[in-house]
Amino acid sequence: MHPAFRLGSPRAMHVHTHRTGRTYYLRTFGCQMNEHDSERISGLMQGLGYEPADTPDRGDVLLYNTCSIREKADTRLIGHLGHARRLKADDPRRLVVVAGCLAQSRQAAFFREHPYVDVLVGPQSLHLLPALLDERVSTGRQVGAFDESTSMWSAELPRVRQSGPLAWIQIMTGCSNYCSYCIVPYVRGPEASRPRNEVVEETRELARQGVREVTLLGQNVNAYGLEPASRAGGGGFPALLEALSGVAGIERIRFMTSHPKDVSPALIETMAGLRQVCEHLHLPVQSGSDRILHLMKRGYDRAAYLDLVNRLRAAIPGLALTTDLIIGFPSETERDFEETVGLVETVGFDGAFTFQYSPRSRTAAAELPGRIDPEVLEVRMRRLVETTQRLGADRNALLVDAEVEVLVEGRSRRDPDALMGRTRTHKVVNFSAVGIVLPGDLVEVRIERASSTSLSGTAPAPSTPVRESAPVPEWVPASEPGAQ
Ligand code: SAH
Ligand code: SF4
Ligand code: F3S
Repeated sequence: MHPAFRLGSPRAMHVHTHRTGRTYYLRTFGCQMNEHDSERISGLMQGLGYEPADTPDRGDVLLYNTCSIREKADTRLIGHLGHARRLKADDPRRLVVVAGCLAQSRQAAFFREHPYVDVLVGPQSLHLLPALLDERVSTGRQVGAFDESTSMWSAELPRVRQSGPLAWIQIMTGCSNYCSYCIVPYVRGPEASRPRNEVVEETRELARQGVREVTLLGQNVNAYGLEPASRAGGGGFPALLEALSGVAGIERIRFMTSHPKDVSPALIETMAGLRQVCEHLHLPVQSGSDRILHLMKRGYDRAAYLDLVNRLRAAIPGLALTTDLIIGFPSETERDFEETVGLVETVGFDGAFTFQYSPRSRTAAAELPGRIDPEVLEVRMRRLVETTQRLGADRNALLVDAEVEVLVEGRSRRDPDALMGRTRTHKVVNFSAVGIVLPGDLVEVRIERASSTSLSGTAPAPSTPVRESAPVPEWVPASEPGAQ
């Protein structure tokens, strides 16, 4: 067995390192799932005795955990790899590793195009990274691993996370939805759910380390436990939320992403009933046109989405809704686009990510006729971004003068004298506080100003921690879910 696998139990949270004086540089692209996988990559590297380096020139091993969701993600990576290539030319002992979704989607072709890359490792093969590094050194050949489905979960590997009150927990892997534009099912394998007791155990351990808020990760968390022969334990996602609400010390539970077709009445009831489950749902709609939704194979239409939004808002007062939108899907007409703008106006999202459609090889939509002219795309993009920002600002403005519960994360990036935290609805709040306020504290903040992306205010002195029975604040806004 490779040394990295002898780091105690598979769910070990602390990595015991033997110092070797060697270093690794890790750069992460893509979604939260990739960020989380990078915590596991760091765990493996530190288990091998490598210490983290802040810049590539200080790293003996250069790792890039990649995303393949849109072409832009690929081109951004190429710039970084150019730097790695030059550093490797300076010191040929350096190793360059490309992990993640792009490695999985390109495989051997990637090696041919980038002969200086030493190791490729797909998301289902991360546990093989130490063995691949060894093999590369001993054979001198480029090596790769591209398992189609997971034999050892990323979640089962040691992890290095930044200490603090927030943590991610992976509850599912893969996706079986095959939305016609999306590469994820091809690079992340089929949906599989982690046993509920393992998720609860990891949550307990995180709570012992001081974590107050967990975000449950999966491409479609609403389908937790629904795949054939699932090992989740019965009751699906609602039962998991119930179980996690019982973990002492966890004040807030979030999850992403939710697929609209799988938000069940039982889930709505559970969200409404559990204090710890936050009043925020990231619910990607993608388009407001029934014709386009059908071509996308999303499994719902406009009316069903709007009905779901109404039911959610009726059951969960103060719910914040955020979404993802794709513009320029093949054959999208002006009318289809107007239907998307109309839906966005009708719902009044707290925030939205707008993406230009990007054809991905192997996906069904890549074969569809009707590419949209880039100039038309630009115009549509501007219009939709303006609309979503205006609506987000309107939603946020409602909070001015309200007192909202904020979980303190640390210092504000904008103003070193201020603190930063988020509302239950996932809106960023920059605030000043009198008295001692620490990361992990829950404080009431009076909101004084609002923009489309954040809020600012003051925690009255002395700041009063919110009691368990505190009422849920009247709704709140947007942040950055979805892939970057
Ligand atoms: N599993 C999540 C998110 C997956 S990727 C979900 O289903 O909601 C995040 C977002 O990227 C998607 O919601 C979609 O809006 C966008 N996206 C995916 N493939 C894309 C493509 N080929 N072109 C443009 N945007 C895409
Ligand atoms: Fe799966 Fe989401 Fe991609 Fe659809 S958009 S295939 S649900 S990851
Ligand atoms: Fe992979 Fe996440 Fe990108 S699943 S393709 S890293 S959005």
